[in-house]
Amino acid sequence: MRVDYATLSKTVAALTVGETDPIALMATVACEVHQSDDRFDWTGFYRVVAPELLKIGPYQGGHGCLTIPFSHGVCGAAARSGAVQLVADVEAFADHIACSSSTRSELVLPVRDGAGRLIGVFDIDSDLPSAFTEQDAEALTAILDRVFGQVGTG
Ligand code: SME
Repeated sequence: MRVDYATLSKTVAALTVGETDPIALMATVACEVHQSDDRFDWTGFYRVVAPELLKIGPYQGGHGCLTIPFSHGVCGAAARSGAVQLVADVEAFADHIACSSSTRSELVLPVRDGAGRLIGVFDIDSDLPSAFTEQDAEALTAILDRVFGQVGTG
């Protein structure tokens, strides 16, 4: 099954309307995104819990490592740079952290609240090589901006 981003966006918006709790929002987004596309083998969040430190948040799929410093991994690269990490081949990414030996490609997106603060990263792993596209990055970023733009504005 291949994701239909217009449908996914509407579904997530309906499920999260009026919600401002980041964990509840992360759990909902991880669930709906994971189930939307067969390419997505691990889907979840790492939260900023201290300066330069990420800790696992809600996810779908096999176990994920619990903590990631900003200095390591694809997630750390997204957190410290604030830029999307679209990795066609994780073996070619110098300090990729392999939570599963079956992962071949990865997409990691920064997650910001309504004030523009980095509150985490959104990580999707695929067992397929070169699974992700710029369209995936753009569409998922738009969903994350809409959902997490509700956080931290109170
Ligand atoms: N691959 C990530 C670590 C998280 S596991 O994939 C869930 C990284 O290199 O940061």
